[in-house]
Amino acid sequence: MADLPRRRPFIGRATELARLRSALDRVAEQREGRTVVIGGEAGIGKSQLIDRFVAQIGQAARVVEGACIDVADDALPYAPIVDILRDLVRTTPAGRLPALLGPGRAELTRLLPELATRAADLGPAIELERASQARLFELLLGVFERLATDGPLVIVIEDLQWADRSTRDLVAFLSRALRDDPVLLVLTERTGEAAAEAGSLGFLAELEREEHVDRIDLRPFDRDEVAELVAAEQDEPPGPELVDRLLARSDGNPFFLEALLAGIGNVDAALPPVLRDILAAQVAGLSSGTHDMLRAAAAAGRRVDDELLAEVLGLSAGRLAADLREAVGSGILARRETPLGTVLPGRALPGGAHGAPRRPG
Ligand SMILES: Nc1ncnc2c1ncn2[C@@H]1O[C@H](COP(=O)(O)OP(=O)(O)OP(=O)(O)O)[C@@H](O)[C@H]1O
Ligand SMILES: [Mg+2]
Repeated sequence: MADLPRRRPFIGRATELARLRSALDRVAEQREGRTVVIGGEAGIGKSQLIDRFVAQIGQAARVVEGACIDVADDALPYAPIVDILRDLVRTTPAGRLPALLGPGRAELTRLLPELATRAADLGPAIELERASQARLFELLLGVFERLATDGPLVIVIEDLQWADRSTRDLVAFLSRALRDDPVLLVLTERTGEAAAEAGSLGFLAELEREEHVDRIDLRPFDRDEVAELVAAEQDEPPGPELVDRLLARSDGNPFFLEALLAGIGNVDAALPPVLRDILAAQVAGLSSGTHDMLRAAAAAGRRVDDELLAEVLGLSAGRLAADLREAVGSGILARRETPLGTVLPGRALPGGAHGAPRRPG
Protein backbone atom coordinates (compact mmCIF):
# COMPACT_ATOMS: atom_id res chain seq x y z
CA MET A 1 0.00 0.00 0.00
CA ALA A 2 1.39 3.33 -0.99
CA ASP A 3 0.27 5.21 2.06
CA LEU A 4 1.30 3.03 4.98
CA PRO A 5 3.18 5.03 7.58
CA ARG A 6 6.93 4.90 7.68
CA ARG A 7 8.59 3.04 10.53
CA ARG A 8 7.57 4.61 13.77
CA PRO A 9 10.28 6.12 15.90
CA PHE A 10 10.87 4.64 19.32
CA ILE A 11 11.38 7.36 21.90
CA GLY A 12 12.89 7.24 25.38
CA ARG A 13 12.37 4.39 27.85
CA ALA A 14 16.10 3.74 28.19
CA THR A 15 15.86 3.08 31.94
CA GLU A 16 12.95 0.70 31.51
CA LEU A 17 14.72 -1.22 28.73
CA ALA A 18 17.82 -1.48 30.87
CA ARG A 19 15.78 -2.85 33.76
CA LEU A 20 14.17 -5.48 31.56
CA ARG A 21 17.55 -6.40 30.13
CA SER A 22 19.16 -6.74 33.52
CA ALA A 23 16.29 -8.93 34.70
CA LEU A 24 16.91 -11.16 31.68
CA ASP A 25 20.67 -11.23 32.30
CA ARG A 26 20.07 -12.24 35.87
CA VAL A 27 17.65 -14.96 34.78
CA ALA A 28 20.22 -16.31 32.32
CA GLU A 29 23.26 -16.08 34.60
CA GLN A 30 21.73 -17.25 37.86
CA ARG A 31 19.29 -19.65 36.19
CA GLU A 32 16.51 -18.28 38.35
CA GLY A 33 13.00 -17.21 37.44
CA ARG A 34 11.98 -13.57 37.68
CA THR A 35 8.82 -11.60 36.92
CA VAL A 36 8.51 -8.00 35.74
CA VAL A 37 5.13 -6.28 35.87
CA ILE A 38 4.76 -3.27 33.55
CA GLY A 39 1.94 -0.95 34.55
CA GLY A 40 0.52 2.21 33.05
CA GLU A 41 -2.53 3.86 31.53
CA ALA A 42 -3.96 3.07 28.09
CA GLY A 43 -1.64 4.17 25.30
CA ILE A 44 1.30 4.98 27.55
CA GLY A 45 3.55 2.53 25.67
CA LYS A 46 3.54 -0.83 27.49
CA SER A 47 3.28 -2.90 24.32
CA GLN A 48 5.79 -0.72 22.48
CA LEU A 49 8.28 -1.19 25.29
CA ILE A 50 7.86 -4.95 25.10
CA ASP A 51 8.21 -4.95 21.31
CA ARG A 52 11.42 -3.02 21.63
CA PHE A 53 12.76 -5.27 24.37
CA VAL A 54 11.89 -8.40 22.40
CA ALA A 55 13.53 -6.98 19.28
CA GLN A 56 16.72 -6.41 21.26
CA ILE A 57 16.78 -9.91 22.77
CA GLY A 58 17.84 -11.47 19.49
CA GLN A 59 19.18 -14.96 20.08
CA ALA A 60 19.70 -14.41 23.82
CA ALA A 61 16.39 -16.05 24.73
CA ARG A 62 13.37 -17.72 23.25
CA VAL A 63 10.25 -15.55 23.50
CA VAL A 64 6.63 -16.66 23.68
CA GLU A 65 3.78 -14.17 23.90
CA GLY A 66 0.09 -14.12 24.66
CA ALA A 67 -2.50 -11.54 25.57
CA CYS A 68 -5.69 -11.45 27.59
CA ILE A 69 -8.80 -10.44 25.71
CA ASP A 70 -11.39 -7.86 26.61
CA VAL A 71 -14.59 -9.88 26.95
CA ALA A 72 -17.43 -9.16 29.32
CA ASP A 73 -17.63 -12.64 30.83
CA ASP A 74 -15.15 -15.42 31.44
CA ALA A 75 -15.87 -16.92 28.03
CA LEU A 76 -12.23 -17.30 27.09
CA PRO A 77 -10.35 -18.91 29.95
CA TYR A 78 -6.60 -19.11 29.52
CA ALA A 79 -6.73 -16.97 26.37
CA PRO A 80 -3.05 -15.90 26.60
CA ILE A 81 -1.91 -19.46 27.24
CA VAL A 82 -3.87 -20.69 24.26
CA ASP A 83 -2.05 -18.02 22.19
CA ILE A 84 1.27 -19.29 23.42
CA LEU A 85 0.49 -22.97 22.86
CA ARG A 86 -0.82 -22.26 19.39
CA ASP A 87 2.38 -20.45 18.56
CA LEU A 88 4.49 -23.25 19.99
CA VAL A 89 2.63 -25.88 18.01
CA ARG A 90 3.11 -23.85 14.86
CA THR A 91 6.81 -23.25 15.35
CA THR A 92 7.96 -26.57 16.79
CA PRO A 93 8.88 -29.38 14.38
CA ALA A 94 6.23 -32.11 14.64
CA GLY A 95 8.80 -34.63 15.78
CA ARG A 96 9.66 -32.55 18.81
CA LEU A 97 6.10 -31.77 19.87
CA PRO A 98 5.40 -34.90 21.93
CA ALA A 99 8.50 -34.36 24.05
CA LEU A 100 7.72 -30.68 24.49
CA LEU A 101 4.07 -31.11 25.41
CA GLY A 102 4.79 -34.07 27.66
CA PRO A 103 2.49 -36.76 29.02
CA GLY A 104 -0.51 -34.45 29.33
CA ARG A 105 -0.87 -33.52 25.73
CA ALA A 106 -4.35 -34.97 25.54
CA GLU A 107 -5.46 -32.52 28.22
CA LEU A 108 -3.66 -29.65 26.58
CA THR A 109 -5.57 -30.54 23.43
CA ARG A 110 -8.73 -29.48 25.22
CA LEU A 111 -7.29 -26.01 25.55
CA LEU A 112 -6.25 -25.93 21.95
CA PRO A 113 -8.37 -27.79 19.39
CA GLU A 114 -5.74 -27.31 16.65
CA LEU A 115 -3.51 -29.61 18.59
CA ALA A 116 -6.01 -32.40 18.08
CA THR A 117 -5.57 -32.27 14.32
CA ARG A 118 -1.89 -32.95 14.74
CA ALA A 119 -2.39 -35.32 17.67
CA ALA A 120 -2.64 -38.31 15.36
CA ASP A 121 1.05 -37.86 14.59
CA LEU A 122 1.92 -37.65 18.23
CA GLY A 123 1.53 -41.30 19.16
CA PRO A 124 -0.52 -42.52 22.08
CA ALA A 125 -0.91 -39.96 24.84
CA ILE A 126 -1.84 -40.71 28.39
CA GLU A 127 -5.60 -40.25 28.56
CA LEU A 128 -6.84 -38.69 31.72
CA GLU A 129 -10.15 -37.63 33.11
CA ARG A 130 -10.96 -33.98 32.68
CA ALA A 131 -7.95 -32.31 34.20
CA SER A 132 -8.31 -30.63 37.50
CA GLN A 133 -7.00 -27.10 37.55
CA ALA A 134 -4.00 -28.12 39.62
CA ARG A 135 -3.16 -30.88 37.14
CA LEU A 136 -3.48 -28.51 34.19
CA PHE A 137 -1.19 -26.01 35.89
CA GLU A 138 1.42 -28.73 36.45
CA LEU A 139 1.21 -29.78 32.80
CA LEU A 140 1.73 -26.21 31.60
CA LEU A 141 4.55 -25.74 34.06
CA GLY A 142 6.17 -28.82 32.53
CA VAL A 143 5.89 -27.37 29.03
CA PHE A 144 7.56 -24.12 30.11
CA GLU A 145 10.27 -25.94 32.06
CA ARG A 146 11.09 -28.07 29.04
CA LEU A 147 11.14 -24.98 26.82
CA ALA A 148 13.66 -23.43 29.20
CA THR A 149 16.07 -26.36 29.16
CA ASP A 150 17.70 -25.20 25.90
CA GLY A 151 18.27 -21.65 27.15
CA PRO A 152 16.54 -18.71 28.78
CA LEU A 153 12.85 -18.27 28.07
CA VAL A 154 10.85 -15.04 28.08
CA ILE A 155 7.09 -15.41 28.55
CA VAL A 156 5.11 -12.25 27.79
CA ILE A 157 1.50 -12.05 28.96
CA GLU A 158 -0.19 -8.77 28.16
CA ASP A 159 -3.26 -6.96 29.43
CA LEU A 160 -3.85 -8.74 32.71
CA GLN A 161 -6.60 -6.25 33.53
CA TRP A 162 -8.74 -8.47 31.29
CA ALA A 163 -7.57 -11.81 32.66
CA ASP A 164 -10.24 -14.25 33.74
CA ARG A 165 -10.00 -15.90 37.14
CA SER A 166 -8.28 -19.06 35.82
CA THR A 167 -5.64 -17.04 34.00
CA ARG A 168 -4.93 -14.95 37.08
CA ASP A 169 -4.46 -18.09 39.17
CA LEU A 170 -2.24 -19.62 36.50
CA VAL A 171 -0.05 -16.53 36.14
CA ALA A 172 0.51 -16.31 39.89
CA PHE A 173 1.27 -20.04 39.98
CA LEU A 174 3.76 -19.86 37.09
CA SER A 175 5.53 -16.83 38.51
CA ARG A 176 6.24 -18.72 41.73
CA ALA A 177 6.72 -22.21 40.31
CA LEU A 178 9.26 -21.12 37.67
CA ARG A 179 11.58 -19.52 40.21
CA ASP A 180 14.22 -22.21 39.76
CA ASP A 181 14.17 -22.07 35.97
CA PRO A 182 15.76 -19.51 33.63
CA VAL A 183 12.43 -17.90 32.80
CA LEU A 184 11.57 -14.21 32.69
CA LEU A 185 7.84 -13.61 32.95
CA VAL A 186 6.85 -10.16 31.65
CA LEU A 187 3.31 -9.03 32.49
CA THR A 188 1.45 -5.88 31.53
CA GLU A 189 -1.39 -4.26 33.38
CA ARG A 190 -3.39 -1.29 32.12
CA THR A 191 -4.05 0.88 35.13
CA GLY A 192 -7.24 2.84 35.61
CA GLU A 193 -9.41 0.14 34.05
CA ALA A 194 -12.62 -0.89 35.73
CA ALA A 195 -11.06 -4.30 36.44
CA ALA A 196 -8.20 -2.71 38.32
CA GLU A 197 -10.60 -0.63 40.33
CA ALA A 198 -12.71 -3.67 41.11
CA GLY A 199 -9.65 -5.27 42.64
CA SER A 200 -9.19 -8.18 40.22
CA LEU A 201 -5.54 -7.15 39.93
CA GLY A 202 -5.00 -7.65 43.64
CA PHE A 203 -3.08 -10.79 42.77
CA LEU A 204 -0.45 -8.70 41.00
CA ALA A 205 -0.09 -6.40 43.98
CA GLU A 206 0.41 -9.50 46.10
CA LEU A 207 2.98 -10.96 43.70
CA GLU A 208 4.87 -7.68 43.63
CA ARG A 209 5.65 -8.01 47.30
CA GLU A 210 7.83 -11.04 46.55
CA GLU A 211 11.56 -10.74 46.01
CA HIS A 212 11.58 -12.25 42.52
CA VAL A 213 9.09 -9.71 41.17
CA ASP A 214 9.86 -6.17 39.94
CA ARG A 215 7.47 -3.50 38.79
CA ILE A 216 7.97 -0.87 36.11
CA ASP A 217 5.47 1.99 36.04
CA LEU A 218 5.52 3.81 32.74
CA ARG A 219 5.38 7.57 33.15
CA PRO A 220 4.15 10.02 30.53
CA PHE A 221 6.66 11.53 28.11
CA ASP A 222 8.39 14.64 29.36
CA ARG A 223 8.85 17.80 27.31
CA ASP A 224 12.04 16.59 25.60
CA GLU A 225 10.46 13.28 24.67
CA VAL A 226 7.39 15.00 23.25
CA ALA A 227 9.67 17.23 21.17
CA GLU A 228 11.64 14.19 19.99
CA LEU A 229 8.50 12.35 18.91
CA VAL A 230 7.14 15.39 17.06
CA ALA A 231 10.49 15.97 15.36
CA ALA A 232 10.61 12.35 14.21
CA GLU A 233 7.04 12.45 12.88
CA GLN A 234 7.27 15.84 11.21
CA ASP A 235 10.85 15.55 9.94
CA GLU A 236 11.72 18.88 11.52
CA PRO A 237 12.16 20.13 15.07
CA PRO A 238 8.93 21.66 16.38
CA GLY A 239 8.79 25.16 17.82
CA PRO A 240 8.59 25.45 21.62
CA GLU A 241 4.97 26.63 21.57
CA LEU A 242 3.80 23.63 19.63
CA VAL A 243 5.62 21.32 22.04
CA ASP A 244 3.95 23.06 24.99
CA ARG A 245 0.52 22.79 23.44
CA LEU A 246 0.98 19.13 22.55
CA LEU A 247 2.31 18.32 25.99
CA ALA A 248 -0.64 20.03 27.64
CA ARG A 249 -3.23 18.37 25.41
CA SER A 250 -1.78 14.88 25.54
CA ASP A 251 -0.52 14.88 29.13
CA GLY A 252 2.57 13.24 27.64
CA ASN A 253 0.62 10.13 26.64
CA PRO A 254 2.30 8.93 23.41
CA PHE A 255 -0.86 7.50 21.93
CA PHE A 256 -2.75 10.75 22.38
CA LEU A 257 0.25 12.63 21.12
CA GLU A 258 0.23 10.57 17.94
CA ALA A 259 -3.51 11.00 17.55
CA LEU A 260 -3.15 14.76 17.92
CA LEU A 261 -0.36 14.82 15.38
CA ALA A 262 -2.34 12.71 12.93
CA GLY A 263 -5.39 14.90 13.47
CA ILE A 264 -3.72 18.19 12.87
CA GLY A 265 -1.75 17.09 9.80
CA ASN A 266 -0.34 20.56 9.51
CA VAL A 267 1.56 21.42 12.68
CA ASP A 268 0.25 24.96 12.68
CA ALA A 269 -3.44 24.10 12.47
CA ALA A 270 -5.53 24.41 15.60
CA LEU A 271 -5.53 21.32 17.79
CA PRO A 272 -8.76 19.46 18.32
CA PRO A 273 -9.89 20.70 21.75
CA VAL A 274 -10.56 17.64 23.86
CA LEU A 275 -9.54 14.74 21.72
CA ARG A 276 -8.98 12.39 24.63
CA ASP A 277 -12.52 12.84 26.00
CA ILE A 278 -14.11 12.63 22.60
CA LEU A 279 -12.31 9.44 21.67
CA ALA A 280 -12.97 7.83 25.02
CA ALA A 281 -16.67 8.69 24.94
CA GLN A 282 -17.11 7.54 21.39
CA VAL A 283 -15.28 4.31 21.90
CA ALA A 284 -17.21 3.49 25.06
CA GLY A 285 -20.47 3.38 23.13
CA LEU A 286 -19.35 0.91 20.50
CA SER A 287 -19.98 -2.82 20.28
CA SER A 288 -17.11 -5.13 21.08
CA GLY A 289 -16.75 -6.25 17.45
CA THR A 290 -16.28 -2.66 16.40
CA HIS A 291 -13.89 -2.15 19.26
CA ASP A 292 -11.74 -5.06 18.03
CA MET A 293 -11.88 -3.75 14.49
CA LEU A 294 -10.72 -0.32 15.66
CA ARG A 295 -7.86 -1.85 17.59
CA ALA A 296 -6.74 -3.81 14.53
CA ALA A 297 -7.04 -0.70 12.38
CA ALA A 298 -5.08 1.23 14.98
CA ALA A 299 -2.36 -1.40 15.03
CA ALA A 300 -2.13 -1.43 11.25
CA GLY A 301 -1.22 2.22 10.96
CA ARG A 302 -2.92 5.23 9.53
CA ARG A 303 -4.42 3.46 6.58
CA VAL A 304 -5.43 -0.11 5.99
CA ASP A 305 -7.60 -1.77 3.41
CA ASP A 306 -10.78 -3.65 4.15
CA GLU A 307 -9.52 -6.94 2.82
CA LEU A 308 -6.49 -6.93 5.07
CA LEU A 309 -8.59 -5.96 8.07
CA ALA A 310 -11.13 -8.72 7.41
CA GLU A 311 -8.32 -11.25 7.13
CA VAL A 312 -6.60 -10.12 10.32
CA LEU A 313 -9.86 -10.27 12.26
CA GLY A 314 -11.07 -13.47 10.65
CA LEU A 315 -14.34 -11.76 9.70
CA SER A 316 -16.58 -12.04 6.70
CA ALA A 317 -16.75 -9.00 4.47
CA GLY A 318 -20.35 -8.49 5.65
CA ARG A 319 -19.50 -8.51 9.35
CA LEU A 320 -16.60 -6.16 8.80
CA ALA A 321 -18.80 -3.83 6.80
CA ALA A 322 -21.25 -3.66 9.71
CA ASP A 323 -18.47 -2.86 12.17
CA LEU A 324 -17.06 -0.28 9.81
CA ARG A 325 -20.44 1.37 9.46
CA GLU A 326 -20.67 1.69 13.22
CA ALA A 327 -17.21 3.21 13.49
CA VAL A 328 -17.75 5.53 10.55
CA GLY A 329 -21.18 6.50 11.89
CA SER A 330 -19.62 7.45 15.20
CA GLY A 331 -17.02 9.54 13.41
CA ILE A 332 -14.02 7.59 14.67
CA LEU A 333 -13.02 6.32 11.26
CA ALA A 334 -13.47 7.99 7.92
CA ARG A 335 -13.79 6.14 4.65
CA ARG A 336 -12.07 7.29 1.55
CA GLU A 337 -12.19 5.83 -1.92
CA THR A 338 -8.84 5.75 -3.67
CA PRO A 339 -7.39 3.84 -6.61
CA LEU A 340 -6.04 1.35 -4.06
CA GLY A 341 -9.44 0.58 -2.62
CA THR A 342 -11.08 1.82 0.53
CA VAL A 343 -8.73 3.16 3.12
CA LEU A 344 -9.34 4.34 6.62
CA PRO A 345 -7.35 6.64 8.77
CA GLY A 346 -6.61 4.23 11.62
CA ARG A 347 -4.85 4.94 14.89
CA ALA A 348 -8.18 5.04 16.61
CA LEU A 349 -7.34 3.26 19.82
CA PRO A 350 -4.27 2.54 21.88
CA GLY A 351 -2.94 -0.96 21.76
CA GLY A 352 -2.65 -3.42 18.96
CA ALA A 353 -4.65 -6.33 17.68
CA HIS A 354 -4.43 -8.46 20.75
CA GLY A 355 -4.10 -12.17 20.74
CA ALA A 356 -1.59 -12.16 17.93
CA PRO A 357 1.49 -13.91 19.28
CA ARG A 358 4.84 -13.18 17.78
CA ARG A 359 6.75 -16.10 16.41
CA PRO A 360 9.55 -16.87 18.84
CA GLY A 361 12.94 -16.04 17.47
N1 LIG B 1 8.41 4.73 23.27
C1 LIG B 1 7.60 5.16 22.29
N2 LIG B 1 8.08 5.84 21.23
C2 LIG B 1 7.26 6.26 20.25
N3 LIG B 1 5.94 6.06 20.22
C3 LIG B 1 5.39 5.39 21.24
C4 LIG B 1 6.17 4.91 22.34
N4 LIG B 1 5.36 4.31 23.21
C5 LIG B 1 4.13 4.39 22.69
N5 LIG B 1 4.12 5.04 21.51
C6 LIG B 1 2.95 5.34 20.66
O1 LIG B 1 1.78 5.19 21.43
C7 LIG B 1 0.95 4.16 20.90
C8 LIG B 1 0.38 3.34 22.04
O2 LIG B 1 1.41 2.57 22.64
P1 LIG B 1 1.12 1.10 23.19
O3 LIG B 1 0.22 0.36 22.30
O4 LIG B 1 2.43 0.49 23.53
O5 LIG B 1 0.33 1.47 24.53
P2 LIG B 1 -0.13 0.48 25.67
O6 LIG B 1 0.35 1.05 26.95
O7 LIG B 1 0.25 -0.91 25.35
O8 LIG B 1 -1.72 0.67 25.60
P3 LIG B 1 -2.90 -0.38 25.94
O9 LIG B 1 -3.14 -0.28 27.43
O10 LIG B 1 -4.06 0.12 25.16
O11 LIG B 1 -2.44 -1.74 25.51
C9 LIG B 1 1.86 3.35 19.98
O12 LIG B 1 1.13 2.80 18.91
C10 LIG B 1 2.85 4.39 19.50
O13 LIG B 1 2.34 5.07 18.40
MG1 LIG C 1 -0.80 -2.66 24.94
